[in-house]
Parts: sequence; structure tokens; C-alpha cells
Amino acid sequence: MPGTQPPMSIWAQAPDYVTPAQRPPVGTPLAPHPSTPTLFTPLQLRSLTLSNRFAVSPMCMDSAWDGLMTDFHLVHLGSFALRGAALTIFEATSVAANGRITTGDVGLWHDGQIAPMKRIVDFIHAQGQHAGIQLAHAGRKAGNLPGHDPLLKRGVNDMATVADGGWPEDVWAPSAIPYNATYARPKALSTEQVEGLVRSFAEAAERALKVGFDTMEIHAAHGYLLSEFLSPITNKRTDKYGGSFENRIRFLVEVIQAVRAVIPETMPLLVRISSTEWMEWTGEPSWDVPQSIRLAKLLPDLGVDLLDVSSGGNNADQKIVIHPYYQVDIAGQIREALRAEGKSMLIGAVGLITTAEMARSIVQADGTLAGETDGTVEVEVGTGQTAKADLVLLARQMLREPEFVLRVAHNLGVEVKWPVQYGRAHFRGAKV
Ligand SMILES: Cc1cc2nc3c(=O)[nH]c(=O)nc-3n(C[C@H](O)[C@H](O)[C@H](O)COP(=O)(O)O)c2cc1C
Repeated sequence: MPGTQPPMSIWAQAPDYVTPAQRPPVGTPLAPHPSTPTLFTPLQLRSLTLSNRFAVSPMCMDSAWDGLMTDFHLVHLGSFALRGAALTIFEATSVAANGRITTGDVGLWHDGQIAPMKRIVDFIHAQGQHAGIQLAHAGRKAGNLPGHDPLLKRGVNDMATVADGGWPEDVWAPSAIPYNATYARPKALSTEQVEGLVRSFAEAAERALKVGFDTMEIHAAHGYLLSEFLSPITNKRTDKYGGSFENRIRFLVEVIQAVRAVIPETMPLLVRISSTEWMEWTGEPSWDVPQSIRLAKLLPDLGVDLLDVSSGGNNADQKIVIHPYYQVDIAGQIREALRAEGKSMLIGAVGLITTAEMARSIVQADGTLAGETDGTVEVEVGTGQTAKADLVLLARQMLREPEFVLRVAHNLGVEVKWPVQYGRAHFRGAKV
């Protein structure tokens, strides 16, 4: 940075540049008081303090080249931090080259992938916000094409051939059962390979530390490798990683232990699960909410600080019973079950959270629940007693509206810090 050093009261310094400081971080209430909605109160996760309860849910963008993040990711992820998300969780980041969902996925399987990612984390930190990474392996759902080619009529649901840059002969799963006819035919991992993948997660976590992340999330949801092991439908193994509940969760438990062992005691660890694979309709054994609750009760003692409650994605013929609270309610159920046993692990809610009132009510004890909404109209229908979650994770709403945090604050009547550069653009009026 040429020229004289600017006064640090005005400027925040990132390793490669200075930028106007956002003090307090954008999205922080300027005059907090006892009646400030919980949504705009801090959340403490070990040494990490989030200034509000909004997190950007991980979202694959299929825009990486050989697993490397690019300027696209800087603009995309940076915009959420700039506009008030206290935590931005980076997309599913593969711990192995053949664990990418698509050829456009991000990875951390070699040291060269650290620097492009660090640039983005540094930007987020310069905004006074926090960054998390989701560590993942796609298992049998690996090796597809990114995006959608309207001419070829092929895309994310189709296997990438070798000519496409794919690896159809190098796709692995707990058992040799394909997801469907358009995905690769996976091979069953040996016991030694599973143990090797535990180490891959730990090595990727070590690289993520070098990137500078504030927290990490282990991706054990959506039918990717770790969730394939949890399910009796996709895990037909006869070794120590298959069969009983204890055996099916073993791989996840070992990954948690391995990651926890390399990250500092002060760093929070998150886990995302599919709380049900929505296969109850078959009448056959499947991963379901009771097993998720059983798993959740074990996690605090393993050093997990927050369970991010998602669902589905493991079976092409899942039948989801969909309504605005279809996932949030399960999060609430798990939270209740934990609290009933005095377990203190925090819960993240995700899925179809689109309005100020819905976001508010999810984390607010004794709050008012929002009813059905078309995304613009908010209807209050009753009084809830307990919060369903501690953190709200947002995916598609953030893509539609990266300034969602600022609009929610305005609509709930909370005066929050705006980006200094956008100070003249405050929302005006009763609700927007
Ligand atoms: C474009 C896109 C990419 C996604 N990629 C991921 C991902 O990398 N990891 C993950 O756990 N979930 C992923 N998801 C799921 C979201 O994180 C989120 O759980 C889901 O979209 C429901 O939240 P929403 O209703 O706010 O979109 C993705 C969703 C979208 C829309």
C-alpha cells in the first residue's frame, strides 16, 4: 500500500490492503437494550463472538478451477460479510480431489489451495466479521458436472466423463451402491481407506487453520460421504464402520476427534447433519430424527459446539413433507431433547427462512411464530414458548438479497451499523 500510513482509527488493515474499518461490525445493534430481538444479540462459541445470529449457509458455487477459489468467491462471499452476516461459512470444501461434488468444487487437499482462500478470509476479517469453512467429501455423489449445459442437456446431476475432467472410475462410497443412473458407479472403501480419509479431514483442517478460519463445520449431511455412512440404506458394510448405530456413526466420530485434535481448544467446531433422510415411507430402516437425537447427545462430549440441522439428500426417492418450518421444527426438537438432558450444544436452523419475522421467532424464546408466507407478507399466527435454534443459517435468501440482515433489522425496528461506505443508503419507511 503506497503513501503514508492512514490513522488506524478509521482504517482496518488486512495483510495486503487497508479498508475503512466497520466498527462495530455491520449488523451490530447501535443501542442494544433488553428488548433487542435475540436475533441481534451476540452469540458466543468458545472464543468466537458473533455480533448477531445470522450465518451464511455453505453454498457450492461450482466456480473453482482445480479446487482453487477465485475472484468470483471474493465478490460473492465478501458481499455477505460486508452487509452484516456475522458468520460466512464457505462452501463444501473437499478434503480430497476425488471428493468434489462437481469438477467446479473448492478443495483444500493441497497447500497451493491455501493462498486464494486466505485472501477472501482476510477480506471478511477486515470487515470485522467471521469466516467458517465446511470440510466435505462427496462420496458416491462425487464427480459430476458443474452448472447446466442447456445445449447438451447435461449438468450437476450428471457424471463428468474423463473428457469433462471427471474421475468416474475413482468414486468411492461406504458400499458399491450408486445414487442413481446418471451418477458414477462407486466402489466400496476398504477399512484402511476410511481410516485414511479421517486423516484427510484432519490435514484439510490444518490447512484451514493456515487460511485463518474462525471455525470449521464438518459436512455430514445431504448424502455425501459422512452421511452415507450414517444411513443403513447406503451403508451395508460388515466392518467396524457398518451395521449397528455405533458402527455407522464411527467414521463421523473419528473425523470429529481428528479435527478437534488439530484445531485450537478456543476454536468452535460445527457439524451439519441430515436429521432425517426422508425415507420413513419405505418402512425399512433409515437415518431418522430419533437417531439424530441420539447422535446429537454424544456430540458435546466430542467437542462439538453447534449442530447445524439440515435434512435429506441421501436418496433419489426421498419424500419430503415440506412446509415453511419443515426443517426448523426438527432443529427445535433436537434442541429440546438436548436441553432436557442438560446438554449445552447450540443448534443452527436452516431451510426456507425468508422473512424477518420467521428469522426472529426461530431464535427468540417466548416469541411469536410466523405463519405461511409468500416471502413478502409476514403473518403472525401464535405464540411460541421456546427458541428452536440459536443461530439462523441462510442460503437462497442471501443469494436473492445479500443485504437481508440489514432489511431484517430495519423491519424489526433495530438500528444496526451499516457499511460506512453505504451510510447514505439506509432503508427508510415503516417496512421494506
Ligand atoms: C446454490 C446452493 C449450493 C449449496 N451448497 C451447499 C454446500 O456446499 N454445503 C451444504 O451443506 N449445503 C449446501 N446447500 C444447501 C444450503 O446450505 C441450505 O441448507 C439449503 O439451501 C436450505 O436453505 P435455504 O432455504 O435458506 O436455501 C446449497 C444450497 C444452494 C441453494
